[in-house]
Amino acid sequence: MAKKFIIGNWKMNLNVHESSLFAAKLAQEVPTYRDVTTAICPSFLALQPLSLQVNHRQMKLGAQNCYWRDSGAFTGEISATQLRGLAQYVLIGHSERRNIFSEGDREIRFKVQAALRNCLTPVLCVGETALERKDGDTEHVLNDQVVSGLLNVSSEEISEVLIAYEPVWAIGTGETAGPEDIEKAMKIIRAQVSHLFGREASKKVSLLYGGSVKLDNAASILSAKGVDGLLIGGASLIAPEFAGMVKIAGELAKEEAKNEVKE
Ligand code: 13P
Repeated sequence: MAKKFIIGNWKMNLNVHESSLFAAKLAQEVPTYRDVTTAICPSFLALQPLSLQVNHRQMKLGAQNCYWRDSGAFTGEISATQLRGLAQYVLIGHSERRNIFSEGDREIRFKVQAALRNCLTPVLCVGETALERKDGDTEHVLNDQVVSGLLNVSSEEISEVLIAYEPVWAIGTGETAGPEDIEKAMKIIRAQVSHLFGREASKKVSLLYGGSVKLDNAASILSAKGVDGLLIGGASLIAPEFAGMVKIAGELAKEEAKNEVKE
């Protein structure tokens, strides 16, 4: 039975003190389920205090980015090596990094490798822009980003990678991809993983959806075929919304487990 993932990306919000207060609120509201992994990605600054504060059985921690070299003269950067022990996950190639900070495919690929080398689970983010969608380029873009991001990942390592489909046009816009669009994208990504690593690996790889996910639409998105979890921005900063989505994932996972026993 596949695990479900609910990951909150806090982006550049909350200072250290506010992060701690908010994490304490989440600790009171977020339920725990055997088959759901819940993680929050605060700022780099808040990772260290939160690593001491959170109950890791209830919530894991993720970083929003990392540099691909382990150490050296790279002023202002934070390496996966430095995150080791503080975070279990790291977002890589988020569209805000690709588009605002001009991160390229080569850099993103190196970051995926750096995460794996340092025992962090990379969450490789892929997704097409509004223009690419309009031009009918979604499949091409997803294939390119998946192939490029996973180049040099071994068949042993692929099970340690999460892939998040985040259509750029749906991020922070209130516009969500419909279940059909999401299923189609998941199918494209899984087929590419199958092509690169074989069918077994493609069945096991966990795929997340992100882009204007809220409590209202979480159930229908999580029920879409091929979706194993959610990567949530804005709504992850509202405790009852985030906790509610964990609950939806947990109940769905229980239902799926029941059906598997019956089959
Ligand atoms: P929103 O949920 O705010 O659209 O952000 C999605 C996102 O970028 C998560 O990484």
